[in-house]
Amino acid sequence: MLNVNENYSKLPGNYLFAEIAKRVAAFKAEQPEKSLIPLGIGDTTRPLSPSVVAAMHKAVDEMGVKESYRGYGPDYGYSFLREAIRDKAYLPLGVELSIDEIFVSDGAKSDCGNIGDIFGINNVVAVCDPVYPVYVDTNVMSGRAGDFDGTRWTDILYMPCTEANGFLPELPVRTPDIIYLCFPNNPTGASATKPQLKLWVDYALKNGAVILFDAAYEAYITEEGIPHSIYEIEGAKECAIEFRSFSKTAGFTGNRCAYTVVPQALKLGGASLNKLWGRRQSTKFNGVAYVIQRAAEAVYTEQGMKEAREIINYYMNNARVIRDGLKNAGLTVYGGVNAPYIWIKTPNGADSWSFFDRLLRQANVVTTPGAGFGPEGEGFIRLTGFGDAELTKLAVERVIGIL
Ligand SMILES: Cc1ncc(COP(=O)(O)O)c(C=O)c1O
Repeated sequence: MLNVNENYSKLPGNYLFAEIAKRVAAFKAEQPEKSLIPLGIGDTTRPLSPSVVAAMHKAVDEMGVKESYRGYGPDYGYSFLREAIRDKAYLPLGVELSIDEIFVSDGAKSDCGNIGDIFGINNVVAVCDPVYPVYVDTNVMSGRAGDFDGTRWTDILYMPCTEANGFLPELPVRTPDIIYLCFPNNPTGASATKPQLKLWVDYALKNGAVILFDAAYEAYITEEGIPHSIYEIEGAKECAIEFRSFSKTAGFTGNRCAYTVVPQALKLGGASLNKLWGRRQSTKFNGVAYVIQRAAEAVYTEQGMKEAREIINYYMNNARVIRDGLKNAGLTVYGGVNAPYIWIKTPNGADSWSFFDRLLRQANVVTTPGAGFGPEGEGFIRLTGFGDAELTKLAVERVIGIL
């Protein structure tokens, strides 16, 4: 008899963003004259840089001419982009990769979600708490998460990231097989130093675990000594897969281009994860549009890098305005230094949703309640630097005004 994948029915609805939208809509209906400022937004807002736009125009023109038209591209991305990634994203970090270790894709979200395809169903998964929800939900879909007990999934190992541990997870007592790490972190904005990441690499090597390292925000690192790639840590090529994206690096959230590195040295019981991922991608994915890959290539030109940096600086200046403004007003504030995310402790022990409502109704500012990212997110809200600079300043003034 036909049946559906029951794991999907275990998933609670997209509670966080649906609930935010519901509360915002209700408030707008009650008070239509109020102008709301979104400060919780996790999407880029600045336009594509001139170098990227020019590269896209040129590539579109090529596609419109018989001699330079291109159909399906190579499965793992055009070599011009994979070589640019190898030479411009990794070599300057002292990380040597071959292009067959780099898989171009349409997003870090898809790759983080799809990577589970190449792992057995009985592997124990560990995630940080709070966490980017994709890691958990995709493991629920594949049947690795157990049941939802109303707060947590029974088979997932949660690694609390709290004020007490500086939002850096501690090594789990029970050994997981698959460890998701994301630094700089969404939502806490925390970053990890080389010695801190080395602990994880050593732990994974010792225990035969694999680290799935999400580096979607590496371009936002401003401090020296914070690794941009897990492969800056010795031994990581034997135990880690890294996800990166042009989304936040160059405003590609609407363009869709990312890449995943699966080193040749990464073997599990004789199986090459590089080969498995290649097989998975060539079977289920038909590549990123030529025009978009040319656009991504342009991010690595001298001018392209300069323009991308200017946009990142714009967002990070917003992050600084939020961070400093709210800190000076007496709030306890984390993040915003190596990440565009600012993680704010709610005042007087208010729960995330109560403070969210207060900011919505009294300051007319929309935020993201921390509780939506996991149980340890309770008592926090997340703000981001991705908004408009003037509106960000105004939003901070409004928030301060109601404290
Ligand atoms: C931690 C993290 N990983 C991945 C993504 C998704 O990236 P992409 O746009 O490349 O799918 C996001 C986007 O919000 C994110 O916060």
